[in-house]
Amino acid sequence: MRICCIGAGYVGGPTMTVIASKCPDIRIDVVDLNAERIAAWNSDNLPVFEPLLESLVKSVRGVNLFFSTDIDSAIDAADIVFISVNTPTKTYGYGAGSASDLRFVESCARKIAEVSKSDKIVVEKSTMPVRTADVLKAILSEGSVKFQVLSNPEFLAEGTAIENLENPDRILIGGDEDTESGRRAIGVLSDIYARWVPRERILTTNLWSSELSKLTANAFLAQRISSINAISALCEATGADVDQVAKAVGSDSRIGPKFLKSSIGYGGSCFQKDLLNLVYLCEHFNLPKVADYWRKVVEMNSYQKHRFSRLVIDSLFRNICGKRLAIFGFAFKENTNDTRESPAIDICKDFLSENAKLAFYDPKVSKRQILSDLGLSDGDSRVEFCDSPYKAAEGAHAIVLLTHWDEFKTLDYGKIKATMVRPSWIFDGRNCLDTRLLLELGYLVRGIGKGNLL
Ligand code: NAD
Ligand code: UDX
Repeated sequence: MRICCIGAGYVGGPTMTVIASKCPDIRIDVVDLNAERIAAWNSDNLPVFEPLLESLVKSVRGVNLFFSTDIDSAIDAADIVFISVNTPTKTYGYGAGSASDLRFVESCARKIAEVSKSDKIVVEKSTMPVRTADVLKAILSEGSVKFQVLSNPEFLAEGTAIENLENPDRILIGGDEDTESGRRAIGVLSDIYARWVPRERILTTNLWSSELSKLTANAFLAQRISSINAISALCEATGADVDQVAKAVGSDSRIGPKFLKSSIGYGGSCFQKDLLNLVYLCEHFNLPKVADYWRKVVEMNSYQKHRFSRLVIDSLFRNICGKRLAIFGFAFKENTNDTRESPAIDICKDFLSENAKLAFYDPKVSKRQILSDLGLSDGDSRVEFCDSPYKAAEGAHAIVLLTHWDEFKTLDYGKIKATMVRPSWIFDGRNCLDTRLLLELGYLVRGIGKGNLL
């Protein structure tokens, strides 16, 4: 059996690496239009940072896993083609700002239809609006080659991708349950996952339930974060502590403790895009009240980010002009080099609009990426890039912690304080530092939802 995966991104690369490691008899070709990205996958400097990924890639690359730009031959030789390309929010025309931009998916379907000489199973791995499989079927049904379309959304979270892929909560496969060929295709894909995933965790549904479940799962997760973030604002106004509230609330087994960590807001390439897509679909199907309900989750996230920048600016006597702020972390979460929709972007833009000077340290995000995210050119005197958090904090009025990297928890904050301007502030946007110790060291500390510190 041969698999082709179109799209060598954060999903395509790690997912296919795990399938290759679990199925040594299956040859997998991961292809992409982006030659630079493919070259990186074939080098020692992978384009995606994920714990455990590098050693796993090295164990299968060139054995049964291949990265290439030869899209046509890889598709033609495959029995199963995964579409794992980006599905960003549309920025133009009808539905701009909320609908999903399906041009990359459509071009994959056209390419598959054009180059395939044998029957294939085509798998939607990308997150798609519900009923996208209809679009794929319409394009693929033009010639004599037979295609079965399946929906198999990916639930991995960045930073824990390999762990999630090796031990998933569930695998979801949607297909044409009503036809013999549809059921056979579902069976082929289920059998691949069943090599390492217990059968009871492989859920099969119709196509539309599968497509909609992915959007719904992300909407629920984002909603939990916006809910606890909304409560964090109330904590600050009343003297309650959001971490204590989250613990008390999450101890109810009906609610559960996960995804209740209040923060500067969620980031990442998925939550906002998928929520906006859900809003768009509800509007499209004439359900404006449902659309409004989910739109509020996005609005609350934006509110939380700007609320945090305001807290920093107000605390520093409503004036950060010319003041150096040490920015600890820029990735949207720990253990990834991804900055897509990182809350750090909006927050740093707020600081720059007040003419602050920013000194960045992130263990995995490049200077080039930060400059591009902030729309700055190299050499801009308002920003500096440091190779250690200690250097970033030298001469700073405040440390602003934006990403929950473990290394920030164990720094020598006594040593750091001696090099900072006084009074020395720490704004802990992830509530991950030892506040009591920092207060003892003489810092002025602000967290999220920490009413008792105000
Ligand atoms: P990505 O941008 O990292 O990668 C997509 C890749 O597809 C790019 O390298 C791009 O060059 C390539 N591509 C686009 N059009 C192409 C074409 N016609 N032919 C060949 N290659 C093409 O995106 P990602 O983060 O891997 O996400 C992919 C999909 O998976 C999205 O729909 C996303 O919503 C979904 N998803 C992402 C995550 C995540 O954590 N990143 C998790 C679950 C689901
Ligand atoms: C998310 C979903 O979790 C995953 O199932 C889906 O496949 C892709 O989208 P991802 O965006 O990679 O994964 O990371 P996730 O761990 O969900 O974190 C998203 C954002 O929420 C991060 O900015 C994170 O810091 C934030 N977050 C997460 C919180 O602020 N509080 C929490 O309790 C959890």
